[in-house]
Amino acid sequence: MHKILWFLSVTYFLATSATETTFEKNGITFKKDEDGDYVLSTHEILVLQPGSIADVEDMETLYLIDEDFTDIQPGTFQNLPNLKKLIITMNKVPKIKTGIFNCLTNLTRLDLSANRISHIDSNAFDNMTSLQNINLSDNRFTSVDIHWFLLTPSLTMINLGYNELTEIPGNIFSNVKSTVPSILLFDGNHIAKVDKDAFKGLKVVSTLSLDFNKLKTLNGDFLRGLEIDVLSLKNNTIECVDEKYFAAVFVANSTDISDNHWTGTCLTAIETWAKEHNKVVKCDS
Ligand SMILES: *[C@@H]1O[C@H](CO)[C@@H](O)[C@H](O)[C@H]1NC(C)=O
Ligand SMILES: *[C@@H]1O[C@H](CO)[C@@H](O)[C@H](O)[C@H]1NC(C)=O
Ligand SMILES: *[C@@H]1O[C@H](CO)[C@@H](O)[C@H](O)[C@H]1NC(C)=O
Ligand SMILES: *[C@@H]1O[C@H](CO)[C@@H](O)[C@H](O)[C@H]1NC(C)=O
Ligand SMILES: *[C@@H]1O[C@H](CO)[C@@H](O)[C@H](O)[C@H]1NC(C)=O
Repeated sequence: MHKILWFLSVTYFLATSATETTFEKNGITFKKDEDGDYVLSTHEILVLQPGSIADVEDMETLYLIDEDFTDIQPGTFQNLPNLKKLIITMNKVPKIKTGIFNCLTNLTRLDLSANRISHIDSNAFDNMTSLQNINLSDNRFTSVDIHWFLLTPSLTMINLGYNELTEIPGNIFSNVKSTVPSILLFDGNHIAKVDKDAFKGLKVVSTLSLDFNKLKTLNGDFLRGLEIDVLSLKNNTIECVDEKYFAAVFVANSTDISDNHWTGTCLTAIETWAKEHNKVVKCDS
């Protein structure tokens, strides 16, 4: 029996890729390829402990996907000088503590989507000065802490979709200094309120998406000062926007207002206004 398993695993490695090798550190085994991509191949770990992933010079991307982790302890990741991308999706992590990611000052992408996160410490992402892309979608937090993104100046892509947010507070991105247009995704929450200073500090936004939320009306106050390419407001419960706010609400090159509760007269007024002002406003139903 053991011989058969041994034989199968050897053929598996030969069959997968000639350039893929295994790597072991602290009793944890990874598959690694020539590009510095590491994939965990020890599967019985539930808690990532201090130092459990440490001192790997050539690790550039680490995939920790679908492992059933229930906790990541502060200090788990140490001395990984070339780590740029860390993907910890489809696990069962309920809480993100300070001290897990702060030392990863070269990391550009952090994906914590599809976990069970209901709490993130205020300082959890402090000092991640290279972080451009953070994906927190498909978790369970009910509010955004205004401190989360105050010491992550390079962010350009922020996905907070499919959580249980009811509002977007003010000044959450006020220290973001990136000159690349931002992508901000808030889809699939229960957002009924967006603070007038929610996006203060940002200038150019390529996509702001608020689809599948509970917005009832808009006056454009939170869009002030933004240059937006695509604004998406699909599947909210907006019945109308007061005509005096049209210029403030339809600021984007293209705005998708499909699947709301528009009244016929309001929709006609918006269409007329959009034509006159050379704006694209899409409404499929
Ligand atoms: C970041 O990268 C630089 C150069 O690639 C390296 O010298 C430095 O140790 C890295 N920093 C961390 C905290 O890993
Ligand atoms: C973020 O996570 C979701 C859910 O896992 C995924 O569908 C999406 O592609 C991810 N990436 C970005 C850039 O948002
Ligand atoms: C961030 O950096 C500052 C200055 O080096 C340091 O005092 C602080 O403890 C760091 N924060 C975290 C959460 O590691
Ligand atoms: C809006 O469209 C114009 C014309 O195509 C383009 O130059 C501009 O960059 C777009 N705005 C944004 C924020 O992408
Ligand atoms: C989106 O809105 C349309 C029209 O109001 C509705 O029929 C549909 O069920 C909504 N979709 C979801 C996923 O809520």
